Amino acid sequence: MTLTLIAAIDRCNAIGYEGKLLFWLPDDLKRFKALTTGHTIVMGRRTFESFPNGALPNRRNVVLTSRADAHYAGAECYSSLDAALASCDSDEQVYIIGGESVYEQAMELADYIELTEIDAEAPEADAWFPIIDLMEWSEESREDHPADDRHPYAYSFVTYTHW
Ligand SMILES: NC(=O)c1ccc[n+]([C@@H]2O[C@H](COP(=O)([O-])OP(=O)(O)OC[C@H]3O[C@@H](n4cnc5c(N)ncnc54)[C@H](OP(=O)(O)O)[C@@H]3O)[C@@H](O)[C@H]2O)c1
Repeated sequence: MTLTLIAAIDRCNAIGYEGKLLFWLPDDLKRFKALTTGHTIVMGRRTFESFPNGALPNRRNVVLTSRADAHYAGAECYSSLDAALASCDSDEQVYIIGGESVYEQAMELADYIELTEIDAEAPEADAWFPIIDLMEWSEESREDHPADDRHPYAYSFVTYTHW
C-alpha cells in the first residue's frame, strides 16, 4: 500500500475555515482529481460533509467517524484510522485528503505528501496542515505556477518523500 497525504496550504499552513476550503484554484482541483481518481481517499467526517454532492466519483471513499450509526451513500465508514488502513489491499494507492485531525494522525505513517503551496495568507482559518519536519521529509519535486486570470495567487505543486 502506498500512503500519500494530499493538501492545499497557504503560507501559514492553513487549510480551512468553518468547514470550507480557503481558496479556489482550478488547476489544484484538477491535480487532486488526476492523482486520486481510481484510488482510495480517506478523510475525516467533517471533510466528507463539506462535499456539496456527497462521495467523490470514481474513487473508493473512506470516512472516519466515531458515530456507530453513520451511513453515507457511496462511502465506507471506519471508527479508526488503523481499521480503515487495514481494510486496504497491499497494492492500493491510498490518499489521505484531510482534514487537520486526519493529517495529524496519518503523517508519521505516510510515504509521500503532495502539497499545493499557495502564495497567499487566508484572512481567517481554523484548520491547519501539520508542520513538515525536514529531518523526516525531503522535497522531491517542485513545480511553480504564477498567478493568472484563473488563479488569483501563485502556487507550487510540491512532492515530499518520507526518509
Ligand atoms: N486545504 C485542504 O487541502 C483541505 C483538505 C481537507 C479538508 N480541509 C479543511 O479542513 C477542515 C476540516 O478539518 P477538521 O480537522 O476540522 O475535520 P476532519 O478531520 O475532516 O473531520 C474530523 C472528524 O473525523 C472523525 N475522525 C477523525 N479521526 C478519527 C479517528 N481516528 N477515528 C474515528 N473518527 C475520526 C471524527 O468524526 P466524528 O466527530 O463523527 O467522530 C472527527 O470529528 C475543513 O475546513 C476542510 O475544508 C482542507
